[in-house]
Amino acid sequence: MCGIVGYIGQRNAIPLVINGLKKLEYRGYDSAGISFVDNDLETFKTKGKVKDLEKILKSHKKSSPNVAIAHTRWATHGIPSDTNSHPHISNSGRLALIHNGIIENYSSLKKLLTNNGFTFKSETDSEVLVNLIEHLQTSLNLKIGKAVQVALSKVVGAYAICVIDKTRPFEMIVAKLGSPLAVGIGSDEFFVGSDASPFVEFTNRSVYLEDNEVAIINILKKSLKLFSINDGTELTPKVQELDYSLEQIEKGGYDYFMLKEIYEQPRAIHDTIRGRLIINEQKIKLSGIDENLEKFKNAERIIIVACGTSWHAGLVAEYIFEDLCRIPTEVEYASEFRYRNPVINKNDLIISISQSGETADTLAAVKMAKQKGAFIFGICNVVGSSIAREVHSGAFTHAGPEIGVASTKAFTTQIALLAIIGLRISQIKKSLNDKIFKNLLNSLNNITTLSKEVLKLDNIILKIAKKYHNAPNFLFLGRGYNFPTALEGALKLKEISYIHAEGYPAAEMKHGPIALVDKNMPVVVVATKKGFYEKVVSNIQEIKSREGKIIAIVTKGDTDVKKLSDDFIEIPECEELLVPILASIPLQLLAYHIALLRGCNVDQPRNLAKSVTVE
Ligand code: AGP
Repeated sequence: MCGIVGYIGQRNAIPLVINGLKKLEYRGYDSAGISFVDNDLETFKTKGKVKDLEKILKSHKKSSPNVAIAHTRWATHGIPSDTNSHPHISNSGRLALIHNGIIENYSSLKKLLTNNGFTFKSETDSEVLVNLIEHLQTSLNLKIGKAVQVALSKVVGAYAICVIDKTRPFEMIVAKLGSPLAVGIGSDEFFVGSDASPFVEFTNRSVYLEDNEVAIINILKKSLKLFSINDGTELTPKVQELDYSLEQIEKGGYDYFMLKEIYEQPRAIHDTIRGRLIINEQKIKLSGIDENLEKFKNAERIIIVACGTSWHAGLVAEYIFEDLCRIPTEVEYASEFRYRNPVINKNDLIISISQSGETADTLAAVKMAKQKGAFIFGICNVVGSSIAREVHSGAFTHAGPEIGVASTKAFTTQIALLAIIGLRISQIKKSLNDKIFKNLLNSLNNITTLSKEVLKLDNIILKIAKKYHNAPNFLFLGRGYNFPTALEGALKLKEISYIHAEGYPAAEMKHGPIALVDKNMPVVVVATKKGFYEKVVSNIQEIKSREGKIIAIVTKGDTDVKKLSDDFIEIPECEELLVPILASIPLQLLAYHIALLRGCNVDQPRNLAKSVTVE
């Protein structure tokens, strides 16, 4: 996610906001910038790191302005570049704005502004917003605070913004919907941050804006006035005394980034679906596909290339694409595919999946396939990453930076996006009847709510973790869509707790692995109602008869499997192709708790890197 910092007060604002950006670097970013008012509005911004911004500032004449805003960008619209970096300046040069979030209706707003003579330098939605504010300010003769409130009442999407007007350098305007924003209140100064980390060393008094609120900070009056964006009514700000440490703030109050990212999954899935599922029109919008329709219409085979957790997401996609689109699909380890001299035909569609967009094996596989003439569609979480720039087209998961080495929200957002892609291709191929299409579309639209329900099971999962955290081995079993889920559960456990864990198709046990089962073997079985339920029940009975311990993921209200299980976790019912999203969350939490109980470092497990940029 982007980082927002602001300062208005009696001190030199520049070092304070630069220091504030450094406190937000943990959020992950690709560019940085600053604007301040020192007689005129000055702006410096660059692709790269905060230290690169500092170098640029050093070469600039010494300034000590009392008001400044600064930003670290995590690209969502437009690749990382100096031009796309924030702050964005309005056409007249009067306003500077920094933004964290996504303006969904920015295209229609951009058309309206263009018709009113506005021009744009960047590809970003944020530049549209700052010019909308200027347009309303001038056309309706509004002060900056009112202009921001009216502009945001016309915006659809999520935002945390900070705006300054060079003609009113004693004011700073902040507003929030969906993305976090905090104001720090000093004795004669105010701070702004995406969280409190930029200012917690200066003050512990803070106002956290709620959704649909805009605040006007006036340093002359030393006031913060709060208003509703919807109707402009004045509200009473709630000042709270923070007692977080800096480290706790970076982790959003969670003990580890991995736990924070597990709990971010409802928001991450929502952001990935947002703007792509048009529920009231029962349709899907995916520009990466819509701009390459022929490739998808003529696709006779899909080859998925990925590694690790992303490879598991690819296995789920194999079931989705063959089920919904009736296209033969193969899933390849990128590290094998790149060296195998594979046969790639004209109408093959290659899909690469990578959270980081920097995995060396996946990047090499993409380059090799491209050289062989294939069309490559990339699924990535990092805008501007090497793979995102290498592919012909693609779609981003909007999971936000994933800091924990163990992928969690990356996996569930990949599944959500792959389901959207599968539904879109089924429309192009006319391979799915309308009723099933609509049912799946609505189920997907509801998955965010269901994922919140699953997170409430955390304490139950902790109890199970306490029972089994000393087991030397684990087996994870599933069938159909839940076979990749079992693999993912095994990977989560082994990579952060160092317990040997293997995932298998449940029916495969009788071909050898069942020899491993005895009273010391916990076997996690994904045994939800949809997905060969009866067959999984008989697999469970085979394990029980060899004294294996059963930990079952079941559909809420299940009776049969619960009777056979030593422990069970009930998740809400959903369409089969979406079970991997709901079933993987308890497996992530199980691995997390077991690893902690074993004294492991869940965020940086031994021997592993977040992005494997080497062979
Ligand atoms: C999964 O938890 C690991 N972090 C690892 O397997 C990861 O999925 C793999 O290295 C692929 O990374 P990518 O998605 O960034 O390409």
